[in-house]
Amino acid sequence: MWVTTAVLLVALSGCGTPAPTVEATTTAAQTAPATTAPPSPAATLTPGTIPAPAQRAPEPADSPAAAPSTAAPQAVPTASPTAVPSAARSSAAAPRPEPAEYSDPSSLTVVVNKRRPLNPVDYFPSGLVLPSVPLAVQEPNALLRGETAAAVEDLFEAAANDGVGLTLVSGYRSYQDQVSTYAHWVAQNGGNTDAADRISARAGFSEHQTGLAFDVGQSDGACTLAPCFADTAAGQWMAANAHRFGFILRYPAGAEAVTGFSGEAWHYRYVGVDVAEAMRNDGAATLEEYFGLPAAPGY
Ligand code: DAL
Ligand code: ZN
Repeated sequence: MWVTTAVLLVALSGCGTPAPTVEATTTAAQTAPATTAPPSPAATLTPGTIPAPAQRAPEPADSPAAAPSTAAPQAVPTASPTAVPSAARSSAAAPRPEPAEYSDPSSLTVVVNKRRPLNPVDYFPSGLVLPSVPLAVQEPNALLRGETAAAVEDLFEAAANDGVGLTLVSGYRSYQDQVSTYAHWVAQNGGNTDAADRISARAGFSEHQTGLAFDVGQSDGACTLAPCFADTAAGQWMAANAHRFGFILRYPAGAEAVTGFSGEAWHYRYVGVDVAEAMRNDGAATLEEYFGLPAAPGY
């Protein structure tokens, strides 16, 4: 019911980018990179629940359910951390993780951006689980890392107690899912990669591949994955409360020069309560700023 409702509402949404007309057919089991060869989370956790293509929810701005991709894997751009200024932190009051924790894709404080690809780029997280919350997408793209899923459940419950209905619009995406997603947005923008790069990460550069990030929607589907989500009750509640559950708004409006992406009021990243609270107390808008890492406006 949630999926059906969300699909309809997204398809009808006039704000933001257009809804795709063809949906993805890839699954974690089909696309898990051979080099990592993990068991499919869907197969190991809830067999038989991988949706048929027609059941997959489209995800306009962040993760379209794209056509089966024939695109080659994205070329990995060469990082050049010194080419851009460092994103200065506002203070040094809170404890900081060791630098290795910025690059280990299994770390809760890994920083993934256009200059910091996942390592390996086809990283597959272990411990993916299905959170027990209203879903607008099905497995494998509703899966999240265990600690993230638990925090999402607490967050959704707190929102409901405040009279705000949330829905999970997108969670884990494999490398191959992201190949399809990015290719979709390039096509939607007439082949303009500059436009696509403002809203969709290239494969190997998306937080969704870590299982630590999710896109949230309002339960009635209002402004799903669209800029106006920021003005909904759900968007406002998330902005005011997500930090209490260990989440940060990863792509704030106005921070594109640092994050490389236009504002995404719906994309939240789990970093743990300590870091999320410290960032808020510091007034740090981005992970780059908080950890003193270079800005990543481009690849
Ligand atoms: N839309 C975000 C940046 C992603 O594709 O991961
Ligand atoms: Zn997202």
